[in-house]
Amino acid sequence: MIPTTSYYDIIAKDYNSHMTISDNNIRNYTIKSFKDNIPNGNILDFGGGTGLDLPFLVPDKYKVQFLEPSLNMRAIAKNSLPENISTLSFLEENIDFHNWSETNLPFKEKMNGILANFAVLNCIPDLDCLFEKLSLICAGNCYIHATILDTHPIKMLKTHSMKAALKILLNKKLIRLNKFNGIIQEVYLHPIQKYKSAANEYFNLISYSPIPSSEFALLILLKK
Ligand SMILES: C[S@@+](CC[C@H](N)C(=O)[O-])C[C@H]1O[C@@H](n2cnc3c(N)ncnc32)[C@H](O)[C@@H]1O
Repeated sequence: MIPTTSYYDIIAKDYNSHMTISDNNIRNYTIKSFKDNIPNGNILDFGGGTGLDLPFLVPDKYKVQFLEPSLNMRAIAKNSLPENISTLSFLEENIDFHNWSETNLPFKEKMNGILANFAVLNCIPDLDCLFEKLSLICAGNCYIHATILDTHPIKMLKTHSMKAALKILLNKKLIRLNKFNGIIQEVYLHPIQKYKSAANEYFNLISYSPIPSSEFALLILLKK
C-alpha cells in the first residue's frame, strides 16, 4: 500500500490514456451541472489531476484555482495548456487542506464553486475535516460539485457484495483496494449519510444523483 499522492505520481503518465468514452460522458454530465449552477466567478478545481476539466473551465467566465497534490499529475496539467493564462493559477504551496485555517489559506479569494471530479473525495478518509476546511475558502453562495463512487446500498449490492452493502447501510466507511500495475491504493467508500453529516455544519446537501450507466453519483452541496 502506498500513500495516495505517491500512487498518482506513479500512474500520472498513464492516467489520460485510461479514460473511456463512458468516463467522458460522466465528465460532461458533471461539468454541465457545474456550469448551470455556477455561471461565473472564482472556482477551485480540487484534486484537478492531469487537468482534464481545464479546457471546459478556462475559456469560460471563471477565475480558476487548480489544486493537485501529485507533482506528476500537476506537471501534465500545466503542460496541457498554453502558459500564463491570466485567469488560471496552479497552486504550488499550502496544498494540504489539513493545514488550512482562517489565517493560513492558499489564496485570498473566496470561491463561488468547487469541482472535485472523478472520485477525489474517495481519496480522502476524513470528510469532517475536509468540509470544515473547504468552508474556509467558500463565498456564501458556493456550490461544491463532487463526482463520487455511488454508495447507495442497492448499488453496493450490485457492484460489491451483501457484506459491503450492509456495512454502508450501517453508516460505516468501506475501504476498497485499487490495483494498478501492481501498485495498491486505498479508496474510501463513504455512505451518503456520512457526506451529509460531515458537511452539515457548513453546507446543505442539495442533491445526490446517480450518474446514468456508471458507478458514480454527483453530489451537490451549497454553503450555508
Ligand atoms: C481519480 S483522480 C481525479 C483527477 C481529476 N479530478 C479528473 O477528473 O480526472 C483523483 C485525484 O484526487 C487527488 N487527491 C487525492 N487526495 C487529495 C487531497 N487530499 N486533496 C486534493 N486532491 C487529492 C489525487 O492526487 C488525484 O489527482
